[in-house]
Amino acid sequence: PRIVFSGIQPTGLPHLGNLLGALLNWVKLQRDAGPDDQLIYSIVGWHALTLPQDPQALSAARREMLAVLLAIGIDPERSIMFHQDENPHHTELAWVFNCITPMGKLRRMTTWKSRLATSRNTREDSEVDESLLNAGLFTYPVLQAADILAYKATHVPVGEDQQQHLELCRDLADIFNRAFKEDSPLFPLPQHVITPSRRILSLKDPSSKMSKSAPDVQSRILLTDTEAQIRAKIRAAVTDSIVGVTYDPVTRPGTANLLTILAACTDEDVVEVAKRYSDKGHGHLKNDVADAVEELIKEPRAEFERLRGEAGYLNAVARDGATKARALSEATMREVRGRIGLM
Ligand code: TYM
Repeated sequence: PRIVFSGIQPTGLPHLGNLLGALLNWVKLQRDAGPDDQLIYSIVGWHALTLPQDPQALSAARREMLAVLLAIGIDPERSIMFHQDENPHHTELAWVFNCITPMGKLRRMTTWKSRLATSRNTREDSEVDESLLNAGLFTYPVLQAADILAYKATHVPVGEDQQQHLELCRDLADIFNRAFKEDSPLFPLPQHVITPSRRILSLKDPSSKMSKSAPDVQSRILLTDTEAQIRAKIRAAVTDSIVGVTYDPVTRPGTANLLTILAACTDEDVVEVAKRYSDKGHGHLKNDVADAVEELIKEPRAEFERLRGEAGYLNAVARDGATKARALSEATMREVRGRIGLM
């Protein structure tokens, strides 16, 4: 049986990249799961703290993310859905892992390197402004490994940007298993479950991924966008001036991104989709992409609007999820404490 674990930060409403790259895959895994498979989905509040957050906005976003998961079809009867910050075992195991994580491995994380780069102010060779960095940013992937391994998860559905974090998770599982070897290794080495739309790009700058934090709101489509907003954003998406449509992610990233989005929405192969547009223009493609995105988002958007105000129900789902999550991770922590000698 498989144990599936994944997480998302409560730092705002999910965009199309989160939906196609991760969240809708969570729903698919739930649908295809065997009776013995376990599905565990977490809203990772501790991770959000690595960047400054407005407490009120964070609190609202945290509750809304649970409504999002329910709205897209995560079923609390089938999957465990919970707030990371309501299960103390995550931070407890993260400490154990911190103590076996070589600093060099963390320094090589591309997310850390890009934080370092932005804290260097302007010039490539200028001093790092350490006031812009915190220790949480550095050990962020260690907490992520603890999230996954607290449940001995075997499968982790995430987008491409999380691949390196997952490699570290496997490394830490392996380091722990070797250091505290008894009859059998304690942790599995979790696998990456990747969707075909592993990396959805910004609609405004196809050299970077679609992200919650990009300043231009036209660069992303949010779950709450209206049909008119979706159409306007897709129409304004940056493509290229080459006539006709072909799938060429290297030389035509903007056009390829639209094809990727379309293929993901209709659950088709992107190369097949591209063939249908070989003698058509960007206008035609954009129209169809907007139709497909609207069709995909329509129901979850309405369901989200219905659920977001249901505070009582959301609290009940969260409470129940945290109770189930803690029961599972308690078993792992008992074994961990036994192996490391803190019991
Ligand atoms: P987060 O919250 O940034 O993103 C949630 C998920 O969305 C995927 N994603 C994308 N996929 C395709 N194209 C994009 N443009 C795009 N942007 C985001 C991410 O890959 C992710 O799957 N560190 C994680 C959260 C986390 C986690 C975990 C995940 C914490 N602990 C344990 C898995 C297991 C993060 O910041 O995701």
